[in-house]
Amino acid sequence: MIQVKSEREIELMRRACAVTAASRALAGEMIAQGMLTEEIDRAVHDFMRQHGAVPSFLNYNGYPKSVCISVNEEVIHGIPGKRKLKEGDIVSVDVGAFLNGFHGDCADTFAVGRIDENAKKLIEVTRQSFFEGIKFARPGYRVSDISHAIQAYAESFGFSVVREYVGHGVGARLHEDPEIPNYGEPGHGPRLIPGMTIAIEPMINMGRPQIRVLNDGWTVVTADARPSAHYENTVLITRDEPEILTVFHGAG
Ligand code: MF3
Ligand code: CO
Repeated sequence: MIQVKSEREIELMRRACAVTAASRALAGEMIAQGMLTEEIDRAVHDFMRQHGAVPSFLNYNGYPKSVCISVNEEVIHGIPGKRKLKEGDIVSVDVGAFLNGFHGDCADTFAVGRIDENAKKLIEVTRQSFFEGIKFARPGYRVSDISHAIQAYAESFGFSVVREYVGHGVGARLHEDPEIPNYGEPGHGPRLIPGMTIAIEPMINMGRPQIRVLNDGWTVVTADARPSAHYENTVLITRDEPEILTVFHGAG
């Protein structure tokens, strides 16, 4: 069942999402050659706790860390650890914060130093595919109108869309209905209604769409070992323009 949020719940979502977006920004600033992925995880964990939030992912289905950090051919759910970032890496950071009973969820892909042109294009197109998708995140459209726009845009550059993992409703629970695939024919799925809060999160591969899960039970990698990028925001459906809730309001 799709949870339509009240004005009061939406205000609480805004606060959870602001902490989530600030956490993503903090992680982005830390991306640098020589940084260990677990150092980013620790900093984000501490930042969330200082802001009264709990990391949404920590212990979620047994997930052992607070942040997902997925490097190069890793698509999503990379577990932070002793891996040291190096120039040329592309690093997807996915964060969720739980505050006042509600979750925020967002992700972005960052470059370590200079990266190759194809990788740059992959990051750009992944990000823009989200913005192509949210053009349809409004009443009058259905969920798969978003999905189709993302897929059409990403594939027009020769990239491919991951099928096995999808966007989702988000609110009092991290994953709520509906599912928001990043592929499909338009005109299907639930109609979009003001007060729905959804995480739209394209995962785009440079090469083929197939993925597999590593033996750690979490890390999703591309089957062809080519790079993948991820971009995500929590979005509120309104009567007109969608509102991106995971926005960073700045330090101060
Ligand atoms: N951030 C993921 C999502 O967008 C969820 C992470 S699952 C976890 O749906 F187990 F790693 F936390
Ligand atoms: Co999500």
